[in-house]
Amino acid sequence: MNRADFPVLVNHPKLVYLDSANTTLKPKAVIDAVHTYYADCGANIGRATYRLAEQATSAYDAARHQTAQFIGAAPDEIIFTHSTTYALNQAAWGLRSTLKSGDIILLSDHEHNSNIIVWQQLAAQTGARLAYLSDQPPLKNVKILAFTLASNITGQIFDHSKLISDLKKTGAIIVIDAAQAISKMPLNAAQLGADLLAFSAHKLYAPSGVGVLYANLETQARLTPLVYGSQTFAAISRQNTQLLSNFERFEAGTPNIEGALGLAAALKYLNQISMAKVQAHDQALVTYALSQLQKYRLDQYLVGRPRCQVGVLSLNHPRIHPHDFALFLDNANIAVRAGKACSDILMQKLGLGRGVVRLSFGLYTTKSDIDKFIAGYRKTMERLDG
Ligand code: ALA
Repeated sequence: MNRADFPVLVNHPKLVYLDSANTTLKPKAVIDAVHTYYADCGANIGRATYRLAEQATSAYDAARHQTAQFIGAAPDEIIFTHSTTYALNQAAWGLRSTLKSGDIILLSDHEHNSNIIVWQQLAAQTGARLAYLSDQPPLKNVKILAFTLASNITGQIFDHSKLISDLKKTGAIIVIDAAQAISKMPLNAAQLGADLLAFSAHKLYAPSGVGVLYANLETQARLTPLVYGSQTFAAISRQNTQLLSNFERFEAGTPNIEGALGLAAALKYLNQISMAKVQAHDQALVTYALSQLQKYRLDQYLVGRPRCQVGVLSLNHPRIHPHDFALFLDNANIAVRAGKACSDILMQKLGLGRGVVRLSFGLYTTKSDIDKFIAGYRKTMERLDG
C-alpha cells in the first residue's frame, strides 16, 4: 500500500509507525475532506435552509449511508457518537432500564478498559452482576454479552458465534466492541449477531472525535438516549418533550460534521483498495512478523499465541521494562505502544504488571518496518540485558 498517501509518513520519511491499534495515520484524502468542508462549506447540518446548509446536511447524510454500507447495515441503524468509548456508554446506559437485580452482564477476559468500567458502573447502579466468560456463569441470567471482536493486546479474533446464538434464544443483548477489528477485515454487524456494535473513526484512517454505534432497530427501540438536546424531538412543550423515534434522538447537538465527512473519505479510500486486500495485507504482515520473531528467538516473549489474529502483537521481556524498550525504539524512529495499553484487567490476569511492548500494523506498514522493529528490539536487549 502507498506510504505517499499519508502526509505524516511523507513529512517523517524515517518514521516506522507501529502504533495503528492506538490510532491510524490519515491519508491525504481524509485531511482534504476535512479541509474542504471548512473551506468550501462550513455550515451546520439539519437546521438551516440555505444552500450551504443543505450541502452540509446532504454530505453528512451520505456519510451515514456510507458508514452503514461499510458494515452491511441500514442508515437508520447508525448512531454517530464521539468515540468507541462514548458509543459503549450509550449502549450501556441506554440499556439501564432493561436490567434488574440478579441479571448478569457477561464480558470476555480480553476487554479494553472502556468495555469494562462502564458495565461495572451500570451493574453497581442496577444491582446486576458482572461476570467474565472464564467464570462460566449460568446463561439463563445473562442479559448482556459485551466482548471485543479483536484483542488490542494479542490481536486475537474472537468467534463467540455459538454463545451468541445460545444467548439470543434467551433474549440477551449482544454488544460488540469492533474498535480493533473494523480496520482489519470486511465486517457485517448483523451477520456477527451484534445488536449493538461500536467503533471509532480514528482507528479507521479517519479523524478523531467521531464514533459509531450500530444499533439494530429492535434494540434501538429499547435504548434510552445518553444525552438530551436539540434536533432530537418531534414535539416540545414547557413541561414535556416527545422524542423522535429514530436514531436522531441519540444525536443531540451539533455533531462533529467534519469528522463524519472525513470518515466518509476514509471509507471511500478503503473501498477503493477493497477490505479483502486490506485484510490480506494485514495477514501477510502477521505471518512475516511471526516468522521473523521466531527466526531471532523473540517469539518466546510473545503474549498469547492466537490461531487467528489481526496485526497486533505484544511482547513481554522478563527483565527489561516496556517503557525502556519504547524509549530506545523511539530513538531509532520506531513508534510502538508500551505499558498496559488500556487493558489493565487482562494484564492482571496474565501477571504482566508492567505491561507489554506492542506493535500494530496499518495500511502503510511494510515488512521493512517489521525488520527495523526487530533490529531495534534486539539492540535494546543487547544494551540493557547484556
Ligand atoms: N485503545 C487504544 C489502544 O489500544 C488506545 O492503544
